[in-house]
Amino acid sequence: MKIFVDSAKLHEIKEAYSFGILDGVTTNPSLLKQAVTELQKTNKKISLENYIKDILLTAKGTPVSLEVTEYINEKMVSQAKALYHRFNPIVKNVNIKIPINTTFPGKTGNEFDGLKTIKTLSEAKIPTNCTLIFTPEQALLAAKAGATYVSPFAGRIDDYLRKQHNISFNKTDYYPAEGMLHKDKLLQDNGIVSGVDLVAQIVDLFDIYGYNTEVIAASLRNTQQVREVAMVGADIATIPFSVIKELLTHYKTQEGMQKFTEDIVPEYVTLTQEY
Ligand code: G3P
Repeated sequence: MKIFVDSAKLHEIKEAYSFGILDGVTTNPSLLKQAVTELQKTNKKISLENYIKDILLTAKGTPVSLEVTEYINEKMVSQAKALYHRFNPIVKNVNIKIPINTTFPGKTGNEFDGLKTIKTLSEAKIPTNCTLIFTPEQALLAAKAGATYVSPFAGRIDDYLRKQHNISFNKTDYYPAEGMLHKDKLLQDNGIVSGVDLVAQIVDLFDIYGYNTEVIAASLRNTQQVREVAMVGADIATIPFSVIKELLTHYKTQEGMQKFTEDIVPEYVTLTQEY
């Protein structure tokens, strides 16, 4: 499974690349806002254009998703092309994130604009990452329209299942892949029992029909979720920096380090010195 970092913070992206485990970067408007807010606090004067260029250079050789902010087809296409032509020439690693459906709660009418935009960009050979995927059907349509990637939001489906039943939880709490019983009923959203289940169903669907579109398991909140999306065959997991750190953490590893350090034989250390 490929690992992307889900962040627009340059220092996190740089650090994660230095470990040799990264295969790409995903950003979205909320992540960009977090990065800009952090930057503003440092009082450093840096243009957003140069900041994004630095992200692309750091990720050289691996893909970076930049998202549109419009929601009408023509405007999304124009924004996507502008972003792509401005930033892709730097090191040719940009793909454009397009929401699957750009309608808002209670406001309908432009359900197909996401698909239309993906189709147009695909014909123009601009790679796309179709975002805000919450059903296998949305993923299927995005793949048919020519999306390079689809991003099912695992954590947010788990939030939704719990919120609808007034179950209290913290953002990083584990949600069982096989679903959760509540008052003797299995919680589900139109046949999806968890975020990991959503990812698994999309992976299966794409396998059955041989789609080349890659599945990016997104909105991952904890290490068990990362393990489970890997086990169901996600092509990519996009992971917040904090969760990447947690992937390495185990009490017994730390305890083992302490014991090995206590047991060091001084003569052995002299053998490890420059030779
Ligand atoms: O990749 C999508 C991700 O950034 C959303 O994560 O935790 O806000 O649901 P979250």
